Amino acid sequence: MKLKSQIAVSLTALQLSSFAALSVNAADGVKIEHLGTNNTLVRINSPANYLLLPVQEAYDDATVNVVVDGKLDKTIYVRLAKSKVDYSVPFDLSKYKGHDVVLNIVTSQNRSTVREAKEDACWSNFRLTDTINVANYEKYRPAYHHTPLYGWMNDPNGMFYKDGEWHLYYQWNPYGSKWQNMTWGHSSSTDLVNWQHHPTAIEPNGFGTVFSGSSAVDTENSAGFGTDAVVAMYTSAGASQIQSLAYSLDNGETFTIYPGNPVITQESEARDPNIFWNSETNHWTLILAHALDHEMLIFTSPDTKEWTLQSSFGKGLGAQDGVWECPDLFELPVEGTDIKKWVLFCNINPGGPFGGSGIQYFIGDFDGKTFTVDTDSNGNVPTKWLDYGKDNYAIVSWSDAPDNRRTAIGWMSNWQYAAEVPTKQFRSANTLPREISLFKGADGQIYAASTPSPELNALRGKLTTNVKSSSINARGKTFALPAENDGVCEILLDIEPGKANSLSLTFSNDKGEKSVLTYSPNNETLSFDRRESGIVDFSQDFPAITVTPTFNGGENLLLRIYIDRASMEVFANDGKGVMTNLVFPTTPYTSMTVNSDGGSAKIKNLKIYSINIEK
Ligand code: FRU
Repeated sequence: MKLKSQIAVSLTALQLSSFAALSVNAADGVKIEHLGTNNTLVRINSPANYLLLPVQEAYDDATVNVVVDGKLDKTIYVRLAKSKVDYSVPFDLSKYKGHDVVLNIVTSQNRSTVREAKEDACWSNFRLTDTINVANYEKYRPAYHHTPLYGWMNDPNGMFYKDGEWHLYYQWNPYGSKWQNMTWGHSSSTDLVNWQHHPTAIEPNGFGTVFSGSSAVDTENSAGFGTDAVVAMYTSAGASQIQSLAYSLDNGETFTIYPGNPVITQESEARDPNIFWNSETNHWTLILAHALDHEMLIFTSPDTKEWTLQSSFGKGLGAQDGVWECPDLFELPVEGTDIKKWVLFCNINPGGPFGGSGIQYFIGDFDGKTFTVDTDSNGNVPTKWLDYGKDNYAIVSWSDAPDNRRTAIGWMSNWQYAAEVPTKQFRSANTLPREISLFKGADGQIYAASTPSPELNALRGKLTTNVKSSSINARGKTFALPAENDGVCEILLDIEPGKANSLSLTFSNDKGEKSVLTYSPNNETLSFDRRESGIVDFSQDFPAITVTPTFNGGENLLLRIYIDRASMEVFANDGKGVMTNLVFPTTPYTSMTVNSDGGSAKIKNLKIYSINIEK
């Protein structure tokens, strides 16, 4: 994937060392005055575009008050380096040209003398530069998944489709690779494969940082901001969580914050507003996660400004652990029937099927005000999961997608260890975009499937393995994975279990690291064992076996697998059973071995493709 950037950046590594040639030493444009054990002024006197802030991840946040011409412009929190610099992050000075900029920095309290405070590594490692480097250089940086250019990312936000472009916003920390300073970053794509990076969309303001939310195109000009204005609702997270409105008149490039904010307040934690225009009732619907109360609140509005609480859904239903977050509500046809059903995504954390974050969903009906959930034949509400891996969270869908598509994307990580995964300059990618559909299971229940978006077929490069028929037994057969692009490929497999009790696919490298998929036709399950997948020791919650139902009556297993350096996305039987899992092999997996146990099985079709990556 080519990371095209509209920000003034050049594409090489964003590391202090690589800046040496480009950057000016601090002494030439940065004046540092220590005022005490935990207070330092950094005065910038330079026409450079960026000040590089040196970060040490394990250290505490410093409070950096940005004072422009004597006025507080903003406050950011940065883990300024104490004993060593892990990497640096750019602070954009370009908008302050011609003004006096002083960073009034408050560091943590744990020094006893000013002399000690002066020894912090950060003070001698500020750099000034006109260009910054954001190359796709890290070993575990995906080749074809969306990632931020640098810094921490969590939930996808505010996605809408307009004029041929898929807009994707995301929870972003521009000042480090851990969660902090929540801001809406922005990327867009015309093909869901190549992403163009845009300048920051929404920054923290006096009401707090910018948490998750959604956008939609106001085709009716219901809000009065203009026909086809993009309206966005998000949570402002300060001392409390309140709901804010913003709008864009330039296709999502810049947003104006509505002066009447907040437009919804609650007396306890509520966040992640998700909006859509209901063309049947001619009003807006907004679903809000009442996080600690484990329910979703449903509001309506004629204009996105005045909201009326209509109902709540969820108390006592489904998985109730952790907090309820990031809702989404939409209607879809049920395949093979003439009925339509409403789907309510309810991301929860912790309490996912294998610990930590997970996506539960409810199927039911929606009359414009109230969501009524389907029950099983005993009158119970079954708990349903969209993805049985550990690393798909906060999934929400694009509004206004073409052809009635329900295209969604998740954050490919888990709150249990997202901040500890072995990457540095950036943290976290999105999942591949997926099409959501509904099907009826053998038990009569309606379930949601998710399949890779059709645009992803364009990623297919060389067909490196093409097997039409091959019998498999306990000794197994080994197939090479494409060597080009280092650990990225797509695999399609149709395998008939025959008399086998189980089938396994072992992805391995010559270090003995492996990820193992095991199909049990009798149980109708597929498991994913990543306990020996590579680097696993950064968190006790990372080594794990995840298991998905296959919904195929124990018949042929149809698999579609995407590998992208540090992730494996497994779609079984047209997305009915899905597992998204991160893996960190120290060198890429080079082979896939297929074994059967308790009888022979038959590969009916195996195709392995390399991936086309625009360079
Ligand atoms: C989900 C979440 C949201 C919140 C955001 C903050 O991952 O906790 O509920 O808006 O992340 O970054």
